[in-house]
Formats: sequence, structure tokens, C-alpha cells
Amino acid sequence: MTTSVDPKVIVEFMKELASDAGALVASYFQGRFKIESKGSAPHGIDIVTDADRASEKFIMDQIGENFPSHDILTEETRTKSTGSKYLWIIDPLDGTVNFAHSYPQFGISIALMEDSEIIAGVIFDPIRQEKFWASKGGGAFLNGARIHVSDNGELFKCILGTGFPYDKAQSHVNNLKEFCKAILLAQGIRRSGSAALDLAWVACGRLDGFWELKLKPWDFSAGIVIVEEAKGKVTDRNGEAMSLWGQSIVATNSLIHDNLIDILSRVI
Ligand code: IPD
Ligand code: CA
Ligand code: CA
Repeated sequence: MTTSVDPKVIVEFMKELASDAGALVASYFQGRFKIESKGSAPHGIDIVTDADRASEKFIMDQIGENFPSHDILTEETRTKSTGSKYLWIIDPLDGTVNFAHSYPQFGISIALMEDSEIIAGVIFDPIRQEKFWASKGGGAFLNGARIHVSDNGELFKCILGTGFPYDKAQSHVNNLKEFCKAILLAQGIRRSGSAALDLAWVACGRLDGFWELKLKPWDFSAGIVIVEEAKGKVTDRNGEAMSLWGQSIVATNSLIHDNLIDILSRVI
């Protein structure tokens, strides 16, 4: 039997877990680590490091010890599916390419889903020591202070975030046309290399919006609840509700949402 979870209580466990995993990742960042190609994208550009693996093992072990009946979905090993109503969705290191190049923009993303609803999420940036979190109905926070999306309603005054998939050179669904369209209409566009942090930055108003076309559940699950609790809006590129394996995502301050969806839809 699985005991029911209170989102506001479990988010405290998640915050500690993200801090500890972040410290682990930061220790690899200061020292030596091995980089391997996952072989899932041409030229081996989709990589994994010792830090991804160590962070993932640490997080999975902690969840396994504390919540043995819960299921877990992670990027590198994708284990544990028993039909529990609770599913942990983990990106142990989002921004691996940045990490591998000593580019200090990466984070740890931990989400908990109950049935099909994400009830809590934490994203931790171990370089800036910034922890973003939210529990369903409990608001969104950055290091203890309540956060809110921006109030910018005019796209030409907006700064947007986006990203490109690892198969960008092989697939025409590579976000290049969408990027070319949006860059002419927004004040600026940034490609940070960490979708999880991009979402956290939408939640705290540093970005007015973010979109990407081929993400995975571990990239966006924690970010969805954090943006929504910060009063932002998250849908897929068609304006429909996000689903676990939905891939495309548009997350905004809600004011520019329809406009951004419209621009992305007009790409041929
Ligand atoms: C990647 C990052 C990147 C996004 C890619 C993701 P990873 O995750 O979030 O910003 O553009 O689509 O795959 O591989 O660093 O965990
Ligand atoms: Ca990721
Ligand atoms: Ca990752």
C-alpha cells in the first residue's frame, strides 16, 4: 500500500535531495570527470558524464530508501515502473553539454507526479546556489522568496529562451525556422543549454517566455509546476495541455502566450 503524500511536506525532502545532488555535481565540476557519447545522436554529440551518473544514482537511492513503493523515471537509466500512482521524474544534470565545457549553466531537476498531475518540483542551480521550487497550490519560490512571472505583454519588449535538439542536423523539426521567426519579433532570444533552468527563469521573470520542440519529461516536469505556481502558463506548441511524453513546450508569463503560439504555428 502506498501512503498518500502531502506536496508541501514532500517538497522539503526534494529540496534537500536537490541540494545534495547539486553538491555532488559541483564537486565533479571542480575536478576531473569522464565524458562518454550516448550514441543516440549523430557525431556523438549527445553525451553523459560521471557527474550525470553519480547524481542519478544518489537521487534514485535516496528515493528508493525513503519511498520504496514509488516509481521513478530518470534520463540515464529509466528504471522502476510498478504501477504506483507516484512517479518521480528526474534529470540528474540538465545542461550536460554546458557542464562538459566548463560552462556554468546547469541544474538538477526533480519532480513528483501523482496520477497524471505534477504535484511538486525542484530545480537547483549549484553554481549560483539558486533553488527554485513549487508544490501544487503552495506557490513558487526561489531560495525562500515567493516568485512570480514577468508582467511584460509586448513581445518586442520580451526576452525569450529556447533550445535545439541533439538531432538538429538530421531532422527538419530542429527549431531553426521557429527561431528565425521569433528572433525578428522579440527583443532578444537566449539559448542557455539548460531547459530546466530556462523554465525556472520564466517562473522568476528573468525570461518572459520559453519554448522548445523536442524535450523529454525529465527536462520539463519540475519546471511546469514551478512556472504554473508562479502564475505563468504552460502548454504544448498547439496551445494544448502538456502530456508526459508531449515533447513540445511553450511556457510564458501568460500575457504573451497566445502571441508566441501563433508565431510558432505560422512557421512553414
Ligand atoms: C538538454 C538541455 C538543453 C535542451 C536539450 C536537452 P541535457 O538536456 O536541457 O537546454 O536544449 O533539448 O536535451 O541533455 O543537458 O540533460
Ligand atoms: Ca535534460
Ligand atoms: Ca540530463
